[in-house]
Amino acid sequence: MAKAAVNFACTECGYSAGRWFGKCPGCNAFGSLVEEAPAAAAKLSAAKPLLRLVDVDVEEATRISTGVPELDRVLGGGLVPASLVLVGGEPGVGKSTLLLSALGAIASAGRRALLVTGEESTAQVKLRAARLGGTDKVEILAETELDAVCATLERERPDVCVIDSIQTLYAADMSSAPGSVGQVREAAGRLLRVAKEQNVATILVGHVTKDGAVAGPRVLEHLVDCVLQFEGDRYHAHRVLRATKNRFGSTNELGVFEMTGEGLVGVPDPSELFGKTLPGEIGAAVACALEGTRPILLEIQALVAPTDLAMPRRVATGVDPKRLAMIVAVLSRHAGVALGSADVFVNVAGGLRIDEPGADLAIALAIASAARNAPVREGVAAFGEIGLTGRLRPAAQSERRLEECVKLGILAAVAPAGTRSRSQIRMSESGTLREALGAGLETRKENPRKSA
Ligand SMILES: Nc1ncnc2c1ncn2[C@@H]1O[C@H](COP(=O)(O)OP(=O)(O)OP(=O)(O)O)[C@@H](O)[C@H]1O
Ligand SMILES: [Mg+2]
Repeated sequence: MAKAAVNFACTECGYSAGRWFGKCPGCNAFGSLVEEAPAAAAKLSAAKPLLRLVDVDVEEATRISTGVPELDRVLGGGLVPASLVLVGGEPGVGKSTLLLSALGAIASAGRRALLVTGEESTAQVKLRAARLGGTDKVEILAETELDAVCATLERERPDVCVIDSIQTLYAADMSSAPGSVGQVREAAGRLLRVAKEQNVATILVGHVTKDGAVAGPRVLEHLVDCVLQFEGDRYHAHRVLRATKNRFGSTNELGVFEMTGEGLVGVPDPSELFGKTLPGEIGAAVACALEGTRPILLEIQALVAPTDLAMPRRVATGVDPKRLAMIVAVLSRHAGVALGSADVFVNVAGGLRIDEPGADLAIALAIASAARNAPVREGVAAFGEIGLTGRLRPAAQSERRLEECVKLGILAAVAPAGTRSRSQIRMSESGTLREALGAGLETRKENPRKSA
C-alpha cells in the first residue's frame, strides 16, 4: 500500500507544501511550517439530483434577534439561522462578555442557546454570568475535543451556539497542537457542516494576531458567512464592533459599546458622545462621517508643531496615514496652508477609526485650524471628499448626514457645492478647499509659529 503523503502547512499564512521548509516560501516566516494530517482519500460518489431555486424550501428565514441591538445591526438585522459567524478581537476586549449577554437574551426569548467554553471553566463563566445577569437559561458545555462538541451539537440541536474559542478545539485524530492551522481549519470545517445540517447558528470566537487579523489561516475567513471584528483599546471604555465580511448584510455597519461593571452596554447614539468640540478650541473640528447607513459625528483633533526634521512627521490615529498625507499635500498646494516644516498629528476622539472619504474636509479643517491658530466656527460640522486638485467632491448621502447634524444641535454645515438640503441647517457650500476653510474657520489670531 502506498504511504499517505505528508503535508506541511504554515501556521502564519496557511501555505502548504509536500516537504518541510525552514523558511515559509509564502510569507517568509521562519520555523512556521508544521506537519498536517493527510486528508482522507476521496471516495467516488454517485451523481446527485438537481433542484431549481424556486423549489428550494426556506424553512425559517426569519433572523434570530440577539437581544443586543448593536450586534443585530452589525449582523445586518440579527443572526441568520444555520450561519457561521466569526468574532475576532484582541485579548480582553470583551468578546466573551458580549456573546454571553447575547446568549442570555436569546435563551430568555425562548430559544435554546449553548455556550461551548474551552478557555474558561464553567465556574469562571458563572462568575461573569452573575455580573451580567439574565443568563440563567443559557446551557453550557466545557469541552475542547472536537468530536465531542460536534456530537453534542448533533444531539442537542440548539438554535444558537457560541464556541469560545475556535483555537482551543482539537481533533484527536490530528497530531498537531490545538490552535495550529490544521486544527483550526479542521474544527471550522466540521462545525460548518454541523451548523448547516443541524440548523445551528454558530458563533466562533477567534483570537487575533499582533497585526489584528484573525489568527490561523485566512481560509477561516473564507469559510464562515460573517466576520466581525471587535475593536477598542484597553484604556478606553468604548468598543467598536464592525463587520469585515457579511454574506447577509452590509459590511459597513458599526456597533458602539461601552464596557461597564454590568457588561457591555450598547451606545445607540455615539454622535452624542464623540461629536462634541469645545467652542473656540484650536485644532478641533466635527466630522459628519458615514459608517454604513449610519451617520456619526466625530471630533477630529489636529496638532501642527514646528519641527527641524528634514522629513516632518505625519502621524495619524484613527485615520488612514496615506489619506492624511494626501490631505496635508492638498492643504499646502491648493489652500495656502504651509506645512512643509511642521509635524502634523491627527487623532479621532474616542479611539474610533474612520475610513470614509467624506471625513476629509473635517480633517483638513482641524489641521488648518491648528496651523493658522484660528478655531473652527462654533456649532459647525463638515463633510466632503477632497480631490487632488483642491476641489471638493460631494459626499454620499448628504441628507442623512445633515439630519444627524440637526439632531445633535449643529447650527451650520460646511459641505461641497451642490449639496442639497431639506433640513433647516445653515449651509456653506464651497467649491474648493480654500473656500471651505474660509467658511469654516474664524478669522486668524496671531500665529504662534511666527511669534515663536
Ligand atoms: N467588574 C468589571 N467592571 C468593568 N469591566 C470589567 C469587569 N470585569 C471585566 N471587565 C472587562 O471585561 C474585559 C474582559 O472581557 P472578556 O473576558 O469578555 O474579554 P475576551 O475578549 O473574551 O478576552 P479573552 O480573549 O481573554 O477571552 C476586561 O478587559 C475588562 O475590561
Ligand atoms: Mg474570552
